[in-house]
Amino acid sequence: MSAAVAADINYWYDKRCAKAYWDQGEMAPYQELFRHTGEWLDPAPGEHWLDLGCGAGRLTRLLWQKSQGQLGSIISLDCAAANVDAIARLRQEFSPPVSQQRIRFVQADFSSGLSGFSPGTIDGVVSGLAVSYAQHWSEALGQWTTQAYDRLLADVCRLLRPGGRFVFSVNVPNPSWFRVGLFSLPSIFTARKPLKFLKNCLRMSRYAAWLKREAARGRFHYLPADVVEEKLRAAGFGHVEHRLSFARQAYIFRAIKTL
Ligand SMILES: C[S@@+](CC[C@H](N)C(=O)[O-])C[C@H]1O[C@@H](n2cnc3c(N)ncnc32)[C@H](O)[C@@H]1O
Repeated sequence: MSAAVAADINYWYDKRCAKAYWDQGEMAPYQELFRHTGEWLDPAPGEHWLDLGCGAGRLTRLLWQKSQGQLGSIISLDCAAANVDAIARLRQEFSPPVSQQRIRFVQADFSSGLSGFSPGTIDGVVSGLAVSYAQHWSEALGQWTTQAYDRLLADVCRLLRPGGRFVFSVNVPNPSWFRVGLFSLPSIFTARKPLKFLKNCLRMSRYAAWLKREAARGRFHYLPADVVEEKLRAAGFGHVEHRLSFARQAYIFRAIKTL
């Protein structure tokens, strides 16, 4: 990686960025996304799931609740080390608390692929607004490419067993953060700590501007739905469908490894 690119900051690793997004769950558009994602999640007793880019673990919690605590295990993976605390707290929320063997945090960067997982060992993968941030710089081409994004989809397909499900959301091309902010306004009145919520919304808006700038440079990937569908089929998924959510600023995909 060239010096200029190596110097490109990845705020997702930052504690402050991770913590700002812990409050995202209080935003009305996120609640819509959460509900829609849940409608496509069908965790069954004894299954093993992976939450990619887990953040505070909202989707991990949803999976656990939907399975009524019957899942075999969930691996909650994120590049931000700070999220280990959020997942540790999450385990304690349940009664009785869930063991580390059953909900485990793994700090990893999915831009490097998922080679640590054995093929065909996972029943389901969930991911909320994270896959777009798989990044790859091509030294040969001197530009960002979708190589890490494509490899991530292929790796997810490889580690799923036949019949395994991949349910994930990604932002639409050129997302309107203004629209997300507008639809989030009422959430100030329902937030548990309105001032903290407002502060984190302001923080998130600064990171959001960075994300859009980087997407415009080709580092991050807010792709049209038909392009994502094509990539999922090329990765090996037989059944693919999608819907709009998040105040129309994100797609949710459900892909099934049919073979
Ligand atoms: C918008 S937040 C969503 C968090 C969570 N999925 C949710 O629904 O609340 C995106 C998450 O993706 C994680 N992330 C971004 N790039 C990543 C990477 N290359 N490897 C692993 N995690 C990444 C971030 O740290 C962050 O927690």
